[in-house]
Amino acid sequence: MPLSKNQTPPALDIPQDVDGLLRLAAQSMFDVLARSTEGMMVVDRHHRVVWISDGYKRFLPALGFNDEHEFVGKRVEDVVPNTQMLQVLETGKPVLVDLLTNRAGTFLVSRLPLRNEAGEVIGALGLVLLDHPETTMQPLIQKFGRLQQELEDTRRQLAAQRRPKYTIASFIGASPAALEVKRQARRVAQTDSTVLLLGETGTGKELLAHAIHSASRRAHRPLVSVNIAAVPETLLEAEFFGVAPGAYTGAERKGRDGKFKLADGGTLFLDEIGDMPLALQSKLLRVLQEQEVEPLGSNTVLRVDVRVIAATSRDLAAMVAAGSFRADLYYRLNVLPIRVPALRERLDDIEALAEALGEDIARRSGMPQKLLSPDALEWLGRQSWPGNIRELRNTLEQVSLMSDDMQLTAAHFQGGAALAVADEAPPAAVAPAAAAPAISTAQAVAPLPELIEALERDAIRRALQATGGNRMAAARLLQISRASLYERLARWPELEAKVQVSGDA
Ligand SMILES: Nc1ncnc2c1ncn2[C@@H]1O[C@H](COP(=O)(O)OP(=O)(O)O)[C@@H](O)[C@H]1O
Ligand SMILES: [Mg+2]
Repeated sequence: MPLSKNQTPPALDIPQDVDGLLRLAAQSMFDVLARSTEGMMVVDRHHRVVWISDGYKRFLPALGFNDEHEFVGKRVEDVVPNTQMLQVLETGKPVLVDLLTNRAGTFLVSRLPLRNEAGEVIGALGLVLLDHPETTMQPLIQKFGRLQQELEDTRRQLAAQRRPKYTIASFIGASPAALEVKRQARRVAQTDSTVLLLGETGTGKELLAHAIHSASRRAHRPLVSVNIAAVPETLLEAEFFGVAPGAYTGAERKGRDGKFKLADGGTLFLDEIGDMPLALQSKLLRVLQEQEVEPLGSNTVLRVDVRVIAATSRDLAAMVAAGSFRADLYYRLNVLPIRVPALRERLDDIEALAEALGEDIARRSGMPQKLLSPDALEWLGRQSWPGNIRELRNTLEQVSLMSDDMQLTAAHFQGGAALAVADEAPPAAVAPAAAAPAISTAQAVAPLPELIEALERDAIRRALQATGGNRMAAARLLQISRASLYERLARWPELEAKVQVSGDA
């Protein structure tokens, strides 16, 4: 029953009709909010601030405004940093409680859409429920702060993980030969052409491949590597091109993406390209020319956008002449060749390299970095380093780990030079140049992993010697897989450098 206008309603009764009741509730709520909140503002549907409460005015100086006229009439996103009023206008959904942080401080805020009779959003009401919530809402704010800190830490970690492993600056060296390599790497990084990295094992070809990728426009896309020598020949094709679902039974039933597909948009690093079987060379050439791959057991082709960086320690031109490498593929790869110098061609860089490698070894082992005496540096500079920087790194690592002294002298390096696994091992078999510090089984006690490693190295050295450097035959003699021999040779390249390698062909 509606109350008539000329009747004074009884002071203590609430309206009996629903409309009146709701109107009263709305009015009261607004009065309470206007009185007890710190400030209010209304924006129209064009984002313009149309009104602010008296309470709101005291935030203006902190927001950078002297008075109301500079503020009202502006678009809210231009005058209130980080405001979320636009989302309310867009979605029509209220935000009952939120924290807003900007140059004026942190505020507990509430945002409500304003609608016309037709229900359309025509503006929004913003309320500052509390300022300095950090004092009144301690526990909540603390939790908020902690979460924000965690979020920031996680973001930082993610960014660090995504950061490229190597940049061109990670290629240490200031000798003319090193500077020239870096100049060429920077130049090819600007292009999308195939790059061929030529150089002995351990000279930094893989490092450069990473560096070129991260200096290229593809840096934010994947770099995918395949070491061709380490993948059994029968699996290479599937590894490159993938397998269509249902092509095989068993584990491969679901199909598998090939490396070309995985590298789409990015870079594919083909290490040891000289070890590519002839049959596959023509397929690779086709992919490079067409930028299309056909997964095994599929009759459709996939378009890919892949930049290839290939590397080899073999003499590809000689292999072409001998018929073990396709000439057309060689020319296709050889568009931008970079010859990476051997360490003995840039011995001036030894000190800087030893410094950088020592730092890395220390960081990984968690032990302090050892100093190198002048005579140690001089000794390092006199070696011929057939295994190049990888060998230098291994030598520094072994000598650092085997001594408690903080400073390493030439004696430390010479001392461990005799590779004597078996008692009768002839010391003459090891040239000082290849001096890999090692352990003798005659030593009273040595860590078992080191003894096993020394034994493995010696066995592989003998097998390579016995087979004239033929890796395939050496693997057969040792009764280990070709892949596991390659893996060990990558670790101890100096073993192979000592014998004339005749290859697997
Ligand atoms: N110029 C360099 N500066 C610093 N470290 C290097 C440099 N060249 C090579 N290395 C290090 O030597 C090792 C062998 O390098 P890698 O790129 O694998 O050689 P490659 O692929 O030519 O066999 C790696 O540990 C690499 O980080
Ligand atoms: Mg390599």
